[in-house]
Amino acid sequence: MKTAALLLALVSAVVATPLSLFDNAQSPLGDFPTTYPGFDLDLSAPRLVQLDGQDEPVTMTELEKIQAKVRGIRFFDVTETPDLGSLAHLRAVQKPSYPAPNNTQAVRSIIDTLEIQNLRDGLDKFTSFRTRYYRSETGKESQRWLLSKITEITEKFASDSLKDEISIQEFPHSWAQSSVIVRINGTSPTDDGVVVIGAHLDSTNSWPFLPAPGADDDGSGSMSILEAYRGLVAAGFRPERAVEFHWYSAEEGGLLGSQAVARAYEGRNVNVVAMSQYDMTAWVKRGTREQVGIITDFVDPESVFQSMFAVVLGFSPSSTHRCSLTEYNKKLVELYLNIPWVETKCGYACSDHASWRKGGYPSVFTIEATFENSNHGNIHSANDRYDISDEFSFEHMLEFSKLAVSFAIELGGWKKAD
Ligand SMILES: *[C@@H]1O[C@H](CO)[C@@H](O)[C@H](O)[C@H]1NC(C)=O
Ligand SMILES: *[C@@H]1O[C@H](CO)[C@@H](O)[C@H](O)[C@H]1NC(C)=O
Ligand SMILES: [Zn+2]
Repeated sequence: MKTAALLLALVSAVVATPLSLFDNAQSPLGDFPTTYPGFDLDLSAPRLVQLDGQDEPVTMTELEKIQAKVRGIRFFDVTETPDLGSLAHLRAVQKPSYPAPNNTQAVRSIIDTLEIQNLRDGLDKFTSFRTRYYRSETGKESQRWLLSKITEITEKFASDSLKDEISIQEFPHSWAQSSVIVRINGTSPTDDGVVVIGAHLDSTNSWPFLPAPGADDDGSGSMSILEAYRGLVAAGFRPERAVEFHWYSAEEGGLLGSQAVARAYEGRNVNVVAMSQYDMTAWVKRGTREQVGIITDFVDPESVFQSMFAVVLGFSPSSTHRCSLTEYNKKLVELYLNIPWVETKCGYACSDHASWRKGGYPSVFTIEATFENSNHGNIHSANDRYDISDEFSFEHMLEFSKLAVSFAIELGGWKKAD
């Protein structure tokens, strides 16, 4: 908290100072370097930023973006995707509905095989990079490591016939670190739906040039969904619909990676029927009960508007009732997890699900606790480490792996041959 306040004061001082002073040895940032080897970040570069409650995006510099973030302001950096969501209104009228989850046996058999040791080993490596900042060399290296880890898991655990249905790809961006997309093709010749499970692979320090191990934010979500993927392919998962795992770059820069991916899918009219984001899955604050936070703002809602509309038009509510993806996600927690859900809110543009929602796709966000009890004290600092406190729980992370497994099976569909 203290460092954040100090940093804010320093950054504020710099904002009021001409940017040319950055090159000066007497940098007003003192201990805060304004450059670092391997970084490609120009603090004076102009960006187009969409803020909550404003009709039009505003122009600000990278430095002003960083400053806004320190103040807790969330935003979409729309510089490269100004038209994401231009077709969202078309999608909104034909939202998918979600029948009750019922593939209990298949889900349970896989969640029993998930292993905490894999979460530990994966996160140990993933947090060993100095930072996973999207405009840094180590950020690129960490992404390459993730790609190679996914490839290794697929080689080791997927059968030869399953391997034929899996593609592992880098989704390139204008900055060095790519997003990573893994797809398991669906067996259905008619259902073109896609189920997406996501996390963000980048990390940042409040001052981006400083170290950012990013254990909880979002190494935890990245590893939770990776272990879900491992469990699924090891069990020979053959979904009816395509199921994709996404690790987004540049969430911390204003949801840049996920917006670029969602924009590409929108452009190809990809039928994403459900997207679930995992961002921070490890923290159980001392003195609190272990829970799963279900975000209820800026996600696929229980549509009050739709049911009112139905009443006005004289439809019976039961025939038009649509279970929202958020309600569906709660049912999965009740069925398959050892801990209960709790509703919570995280505000505008708080993680990558928001990019999908902007594109008109149903998306949800599940987090480690209520937003208030999440890991505010350590994220975006050098202290976002898994060994900082016993409040960092790999057992808790595994609950989110279970949720991702159930999301993939129940929404992807799986008719086992036996
Ligand atoms: C679950 O229900 C769907 C229809 O809602 C059905 O197609 C599917 O076969 C069911 N799965 C199981 C395992 O019963
Ligand atoms: C998966 O399906 C898509 C579209 O049908 C196809 O283009 C692609 O080659 C398939 N991928 C694999 C790995 O078979
Ligand atoms: Zn995050």
